[in-house]
Amino acid sequence: METMTKSSSILILHALVFSLLLPFSLANDEYISAVGDPGMQRDGLRVAIESWNQCNEVGVETPTMGSPRAADCFDVHHAPPRAGMQQDGHRLVHRVRERDNKLGVGSPFRGVKLGSLYDVDRYAAEKELYLGSLCQVNDSPKPWQFWMIMLKSGNMDTHASMCPENGKKVGPFGPDSRFPCFGKGCMNQPLIYHTYTSLHGDEKKTMRGSYFGTWDLGYSISNNGSRNLMAKLDEEPEKNEFSYYSVTWEKEVGKGSWVFHHVLKTSAKYPWLMLYLRSDATTGFSGGYHYQTRGMLKIIPESPDFKVRVTLEVIKGGGPSSQFYLLDMGSCWKNNGKPCDGDVTTDVTRYSEMIINPNTTAWCQPDALHNCPPYHTFANGTRVHRNNTAQFPYAAYHMYCAPGTGKYVEMPSNICDPYSNPQPQEILQILPHPVWGEYGYPTKQGEGWIGDPRTWELDVGGISHSLHFYQDPGTQPIKRKWMSIDLGTEIYKDPNAVAEWYVSDFDIIVPKKKASSD
Ligand SMILES: *[C@@H]1O[C@H](CO)[C@@H](O)[C@H](O)[C@H]1NC(C)=O
Ligand SMILES: *[C@@H]1O[C@H](CO)[C@@H](O)[C@H](O)[C@H]1NC(C)=O
Ligand SMILES: *[C@@H]1O[C@H](CO)[C@@H](O)[C@H](O)[C@H]1NC(C)=O
Ligand SMILES: *[C@@H]1O[C@H](CO)[C@@H](O)[C@H](O)[C@H]1NC(C)=O
Repeated sequence: METMTKSSSILILHALVFSLLLPFSLANDEYISAVGDPGMQRDGLRVAIESWNQCNEVGVETPTMGSPRAADCFDVHHAPPRAGMQQDGHRLVHRVRERDNKLGVGSPFRGVKLGSLYDVDRYAAEKELYLGSLCQVNDSPKPWQFWMIMLKSGNMDTHASMCPENGKKVGPFGPDSRFPCFGKGCMNQPLIYHTYTSLHGDEKKTMRGSYFGTWDLGYSISNNGSRNLMAKLDEEPEKNEFSYYSVTWEKEVGKGSWVFHHVLKTSAKYPWLMLYLRSDATTGFSGGYHYQTRGMLKIIPESPDFKVRVTLEVIKGGGPSSQFYLLDMGSCWKNNGKPCDGDVTTDVTRYSEMIINPNTTAWCQPDALHNCPPYHTFANGTRVHRNNTAQFPYAAYHMYCAPGTGKYVEMPSNICDPYSNPQPQEILQILPHPVWGEYGYPTKQGEGWIGDPRTWELDVGGISHSLHFYQDPGTQPIKRKWMSIDLGTEIYKDPNAVAEWYVSDFDIIVPKKKASSD
C-alpha cells in the first residue's frame, strides 16, 4: 500500500514539474530526443532485465529461472466502453510470452546460433537480441527496443577461474580479500520473478508491473501472481536476512511519465550488489558488455553536445557504502584512440559516475595523488595538474583508476580492478562540487539526496568532454560516444544495507544537426 500511495503522489508531482519544464526540450526544435521513449511518456512500455556476474557474464544459470534476460513489452489497445463505465477501457497486449522469458541454455529460439545454444554466456547475449526483436519499435533514424534494468553481484570465486584479468584468461588464485565469496557457487544469478504489467485502480487506468527476487537461493519468495508479498518485502526488506531487489513501474494511461520504483538490499552472502536503470545502445556494444546489445538509444550521444533530464527521488540511501550514481555513463575505446571492436584484450571500457551519497568522501587528496586524474579541466578550458595543490579541486573527485593496459599512465596511479569487466576498464568517479555547477550537476554534498527529490537537467555532454580519460600519448583523441547512460546504486561490500529510489522523466537530447549528419 505504501508504495502505491507514494508513487501516486509522485505521479502528480511529475505532471506539475513536467509542464513547467516543457520548454527545455520540446519548444527548442534544435534538439531532438536520442531515446526511443522520450521522458518515459509512452504508454506502451518497453522494459527488460539483465543480470550479470562479477565479470558481466552469466557463468551458471539458476535452476528454473532460465537465462537471466527477460522483458515486459506491451501495446495499449483501446477497448469499447463496458457496462457501468463512462469511458473507454484499455487492454494491454503483451508481446513477450512467459515461455520466451523462461528460455534457458539448450532451448532453441528463432535466430539462436548453434554455437551459442549450449554456452550460457553467449546464449544470454542472443536471448537479449531475440527479446529485442519481440519488443522492437520502428522509429527514425533507427528502431529501438527497451529500457534495461541491470542487476549485478560483485561476488567472485577466484578459485573458480571464471573471470579474465584485463581480458585475458587466468588460472585459479586466492584467497583474495578484495572479492567477497562465501564458497563454491557464490557467483550465482538471482531468482527473477516477474509480474506482467496489468491494469489497476477503479477505472483500470493505472498500469503496473514488476520484477523482484533475491540472490540468496535458499529462500523461497515466489510471487504466486500476487503483489502482496512483494509489497511487504519492499516495505521492510531489512527485516529479512536474504538479499533483495525489486523494480516496479507504474503509469496512468495517457498521462505523465512512467515512475520506476527500485529497492535493493544486500545480505551477508551478497554484500556487493548493483541495480541500475539503463538507456543502452540499440546496436553494437554498450558499457561493459562485449556482445551486441539492445536498448533505447536510437542515437548515440556524443560529447560535448547532449543533455540528460531525469527525475530522481532517493528514499533510502543504501548505507555509507552505497555509491549512488546520479548518472553513470559507459563507453569503450582502445588506448590508441580507435573504437572498440570486441577484442577484449585491447578494448577498454570507460566509465564516469557522479556519486551523490554524502557519505562518500574524496579519496583524491594532495597526499594521495594516485586517486586523482592527472589533471582537471575547468569549464572555461583552463587545465590544472593534480600536483598544483593551490588550484586542483581534490574534493571534486572520489577516485580515478587507470586501465591496466595503459602503457604510459602517469604515475603514481591506481590500476582499475582487472576482473570486473570482460575487458580492461577505466573509471573516473566524481563528487558534488562547485566545479561541476556549470554543467547543472550537484555542487554540494546532500543535493539530490534523501528528502531532496529533483528533476535534473544535466549537461552530460559538456562534463564528459572535460573529464580526463586515458589515451596513449600522441594518438588522435577519439570522439567520445556514450553507449550507456544509466542511474542507480552500487552497494559496495556492506551486508544488510537497503536502498530505495524512484526514477522518472528520463530523456537524453542531442542537437538535431548532429543527429542527421551521423
Ligand atoms: C506460493 O505458492 C506455493 C505453492 O502453491 C505455496 O506453497 C506458498 O506458500 C505460496 N507463497 C506465498 C507467499 O503465498
Ligand atoms: C553518513 O551520513 C549520514 C548523514 O550525513 C550521517 O548521519 C552518518 O553518520 C554518516 N555515516 C558514516 C559512516 O559516515
Ligand atoms: C578558469 O576558471 C578557473 C577556476 O574558476 C580560474 O581559476 C581561471 O583563472 C579561469 N581561467 C581563465 C582563463 O579565465
Ligand atoms: C607537476 O607535474 C608536472 C607534470 O608531470 C611536472 O612537469 C612538474 O614538475 C610537477 N611539479 C611539481 C611541483 O612536482
